[in-house]
Amino acid sequence: EGQVSMRVAMIGTGYVGLVSGACFADFGHDVTCVDKDPSKIERLERGEIPIFEPGLDDLVAANVRGGRLSFALDGAEAIRAADAVFIAVGTPSRRGDGHADLSYVHAAAEEIAGLIEGFTVVVTKSTVPVGTGDEIERIIRERRPDADFAVVSNPEFLREGAAIEDFKRPDRVVVGTEDARAQAVMRELYRPLNLNETPILFTGRRTSELIKYAANAFLAMKITFINEMADLCEAVGADVQQVARGIGLDKRIGGKFLHAGPGYGGSCFPKDTLALVRTAADAGSPVRLIETTVRINDARKKAMAGRVANVLGGDLKGKTVALLGLTFKPNTDDMRDAPSLDVAPALIAMGAEVQAFDPEGMHEAAKLLDGVRFKDGPYEAVTGADVVVILTEWDQFRALDIDRIKLLMRQPVMVDLRNVYRPEEMRTRGFRYASIGRA
Ligand code: UGA
Repeated sequence: EGQVSMRVAMIGTGYVGLVSGACFADFGHDVTCVDKDPSKIERLERGEIPIFEPGLDDLVAANVRGGRLSFALDGAEAIRAADAVFIAVGTPSRRGDGHADLSYVHAAAEEIAGLIEGFTVVVTKSTVPVGTGDEIERIIRERRPDADFAVVSNPEFLREGAAIEDFKRPDRVVVGTEDARAQAVMRELYRPLNLNETPILFTGRRTSELIKYAANAFLAMKITFINEMADLCEAVGADVQQVARGIGLDKRIGGKFLHAGPGYGGSCFPKDTLALVRTAADAGSPVRLIETTVRINDARKKAMAGRVANVLGGDLKGKTVALLGLTFKPNTDDMRDAPSLDVAPALIAMGAEVQAFDPEGMHEAAKLLDGVRFKDGPYEAVTGADVVVILTEWDQFRALDIDRIKLLMRQPVMVDLRNVYRPEEMRTRGFRYASIGRA
């Protein structure tokens, strides 16, 4: 059977909106990405992508050329014509209480309410607290008692840096709605995935909203588990990478997200775990494992500077520290809740000079990190340093010229917070070397 092309309006051209919009267009649908920010729309129309995501610029360009993807400041026309309107606006943590701030979501619902014509599926792609779908439905119903629409939850599971791959080859698609017409539209939107036999899981709307938080909380907990095991490995003389492999081969556990490090960061795990803790507390059903996960991870990020100091005998006064990597993970320019935001200020507070390099994140980092000297490359950053710290596992830091680094540093000391190098090898090359969870 042939594919039916759907008309999609995507509200919000942030990370999720842009990736989802471009991928739906690439699936053959007719997509308009809408944003209130004129400079963003202008840049997009010129083919400039405001975020760093591998492959996204080519995907956007190809679909704009193909006439399936366009951008608009005013969403009215696209929303009127749409079979599905996606809400992909930001839901930042509200200051003070950690709840998700839904003002952009509600504003989008108001706008959509005034415009939809014919049966329209309104989809939340943004990560929204349980019950938000009900609220959106209420907002639209109140303004337009006559409107024919269904509100659906369709959470995204995209990793930054691998978002296009995750969108096109997902483990599953979750669609929260009991409305049969809405289910049919969603099935049509994701039809190309049938080719890879991706399961589409239809659930109730609140269930779907919770699945998103539960998935991120579980992954955050898994990382935190292996981080604690890493500390234990150090204390008892075991190797965390072998522990991870040894447990991960058990299919019930699975080997992914068992890489020990300086603590998770990013725009999702810290925010979503906190929001889940608040939602659960409000509902009178606390999620204590996640409360603890949040606490352990916050403390871990703060403790990393102390590790650096320990390797140098406890005192950083007058010492120069080189930081390689500042973003919360590789292949992104995203600095949100990155461990570097805790590590660099703590090092400076202990009296160290900090010089840093990141392949994509320095522009953002310069706004957030006072007193750090930004360098043009890894070799510039390590020049004159007493210790080099690998904070983010960018590919280019996996293949450093170690002998050259040794010559450039004041003394050859490495703290490898991502276990990129092998302890024996670094020691053979003359380095004092410390990593995570390995002797
Ligand atoms: C995460 C989830 O992986 C996505 O499935 C989800 O859709 C997304 O959040 C979201 O809610 O939008 P992302 O934040 O882009 O994606 O990045 P991850 O690759 O999950 O990494 C998050 C943090 O965990 C990073 O700081 C990373 O360094 C850390 N991490 C990850 C580890 O320390 N160890 C691991 O084994 C894996």
